[in-house]
Amino acid sequence: MKDLPDLVVDLVETSQKHEQYREKECINMIASEGIKSPAVTQILNLTQDLASRYAEGENDISGHVQKRHYQGQKYMSQIEDITTDIIKSLFGSTWADVRLVSGTHANLATFKGLSLASKNNKMVVTPLSCGAHISHDYTGLAGKILGLDNINHVYNIDEFNIDPDKSAYVIRAAKPGIVTFGGSLFLFPHPIKELKEICDEVGAYVAYDASHVLGLIAGGQFQDPLREGADFITSSTHKTFPGPQGGVVMGSPTTPALEKAVKKIQYAVFPLTASSTHLGRLPALGIACLEMKIFGKDLARQIVKNAQTAGQYLYENGVKVIAEKKGFTKSHQIALDVHAFGGGNKIAQDLEDANIILNKNLLPYDDQSSKENPSGLRVGFQDVTRRGFKEGDIKHLCDLILDVVKGKRKPTAVKEDVLALKKEFNCIKYGFQNIEEALTYIKKA
Ligand SMILES: Cc1ncc(COP(=O)(O)O)c(C=O)c1O
Repeated sequence: MKDLPDLVVDLVETSQKHEQYREKECINMIASEGIKSPAVTQILNLTQDLASRYAEGENDISGHVQKRHYQGQKYMSQIEDITTDIIKSLFGSTWADVRLVSGTHANLATFKGLSLASKNNKMVVTPLSCGAHISHDYTGLAGKILGLDNINHVYNIDEFNIDPDKSAYVIRAAKPGIVTFGGSLFLFPHPIKELKEICDEVGAYVAYDASHVLGLIAGGQFQDPLREGADFITSSTHKTFPGPQGGVVMGSPTTPALEKAVKKIQYAVFPLTASSTHLGRLPALGIACLEMKIFGKDLARQIVKNAQTAGQYLYENGVKVIAEKKGFTKSHQIALDVHAFGGGNKIAQDLEDANIILNKNLLPYDDQSSKENPSGLRVGFQDVTRRGFKEGDIKHLCDLILDVVKGKRKPTAVKEDVLALKKEFNCIKYGFQNIEEALTYIKKA
């Protein structure tokens, strides 16, 4: 191993190379990643003191700071309260907790809180093989850390969705404390409305993991979980929602049972799972909320349009795109079955060689033990959309993807075209270029 100073030189140089590579030279299509505006990045860089501070304590039922255990908090408490109010206002909830540092943390605190509130360790979830996140599953956080028993929703592979009638039967029989919706391979809105009554009947809390689709929800282009029956939304703030990396939980506690749940979730945040809550991200989260209030509808609409355009175009050009009968997707992502072209691992690697970055993905009908070479690819459109891609640009990008998938050209040759395409889209749309621009916009409005 090198000496420490030489390792630091390597670290700095490699970090610079990374910024150049992924930001300037690659087309980023990983569905779980986000893209911040220059204004959000600027304010993140300006909140360095905040990013070094601690704010342990308790919050009240509206999500505001109630008690702090350290001194020096007068502005920090205000910053947390204001951010909480901003996100509540954007999503129409009466309570939010912005102390979560990630989507997994939001799930950890929420699942723990709800299992305490319901005194019930059973949780109905989407099967991992059908798109749930590992944190929902008995093989991940839910089972291995929280000791929850998973019972699976019944999933209809043809519909690429939870089967509401059969899942109703499962929920009624299992009587869980929590029923979850949402996921990581997430093409169509989940049937919350259809299952809410059964959840109420058995006394289960409904938790909706919006990590992937929070930006689409903010833009009114997917489903509206809190109005459809979800008691709580858990989420990352950095996928389709273009904020800093972080997490959030939201809800509107209108009954004693929901108030109890909020208190248990808050307890699961502090003191159970958070000490530093990474406060430096909060002003950036607020600016991202403003951007979504102003530009969210257009951004989310174009993201979905771009995903659907790609689905149709790739399908017409001989690639098996999942859920063809259903129009491929209503979200920011599509799923491809590239088994016929060598499998997800090979194609994802070939595309990386062409500087198109996405991930291999198990599909519901895959042998679930073949994680290393599944049939699928998951492709996300939030990054390219925010850089200004419209339908015609998407088709051009799909032509490059097709060249690689079908082996028509070497990935290294396609890479030249990718570099040229990336150069054309070098500014970030649907957001503010700096904080001044955001503030001026507010003053004018
Ligand atoms: C549905 C879902 N929930 C939670 C997470 C975890 O989010 P984070 O990376 O913010 O912990 C992910 C990650 O992609 C996800 O897809």
